[in-house]
Amino acid sequence: MRPLVALVVAAGVLAGCDETPKKKPPPPGASATEPRSSSPTAAASFPATPRAYFVERCATCHGAEGKGDGTAAATMSPRPRSFVDADWQKNVTDDDIRKVVLKGGAAVGKSPLMPPNPELESKPDVLTGLVAEVRRLGKAP
Ligand code: HEC
Repeated sequence: MRPLVALVVAAGVLAGCDETPKKKPPPPGASATEPRSSSPTAAASFPATPRAYFVERCATCHGAEGKGDGTAAATMSPRPRSFVDADWQKNVTDDDIRKVVLKGGAAVGKSPLMPPNPELESKPDVLTGLVAEVRRLGKAP
């Protein structure tokens, strides 16, 4: 049988080793491109409206309706603030909200899990819109 083996090997060499065994397919999920959702690129296209900004940058934690039930919220301690909490809405000022959104939780003695949004420094209108969005969600039924 040897000559046959040699022939097969030689054929492989001549064919540029095209016949090398195929690689095993990667395990399921391994090739899925996982976006690094926790660090959105600041340079990426800027959301056009405060609501779009909220959906893109806040809803993963605070939930689309601001109830503190976003997909990332379950394992967080403390949990992201629910904006539907009437007592919280009553006691927090617009300036408080601006500050925590801009500088992050750690800067105001709250959880560092609440990230800062320094790019809003140059977008005061978006920041104002976000405060309004937080207030609007608080009034939602
Ligand atoms: C990675 C998760 C996460 C994201 C993203 C996030 N937050 Fe938060 N946020 C939190 C957590 C956790 C708290 C609770 C902090 C605490 O109570 O110590 C919080 C608290 C807050 C508070 C309440 C602060 C207070 O006075 O109690 C406001 C307002 C707020 N977030 C607004 C926003 C807005 C607006 C965005 C989007 C620009 C945003 N957050 C994005 C996790 C997040």
